[in-house]
Amino acid sequence: MASAVRILADSRRLSETAAVRFVIEIDGVSRDAFAVRYRGQFFAYVNTCRHEGRMLDFGDGHFFDEACDALVCVHHGARYQPSTGICVEGPCLGARLTALKLEQRGQELWCVGASREAAPEDAAPAG
Ligand code: FES
Repeated sequence: MASAVRILADSRRLSETAAVRFVIEIDGVSRDAFAVRYRGQFFAYVNTCRHEGRMLDFGDGHFFDEACDALVCVHHGARYQPSTGICVEGPCLGARLTALKLEQRGQELWCVGASREAAPEDAAPAG
């Protein structure tokens, strides 16, 4: 169970391939998370790389690679597809970021928790 968090008062302010970091409580645990706009749509994930469980960014909200076609972990270069959270290249190939569900409420963007039941592979980072 997660408590809903308002991420943005005006979602129009999140430009293409920009990101916003936030914290959401899931099952009583505060988790660092982020949302991005990619190809006009919003996607959000827990900010935990599936390789070693570290945050993907340096805390600066920079997640995209130079071509803006993948979310990249700064530590060992795992590349995740922005629209699915699946690792498509790197040490945790095939693993998936924990996706979060977003809701648009007027101009506001809210995160309302995990977007699906946690899969078994979500239990621990890939080795
Ligand atoms: S911790 Fe992200 S690629 Fe290693």
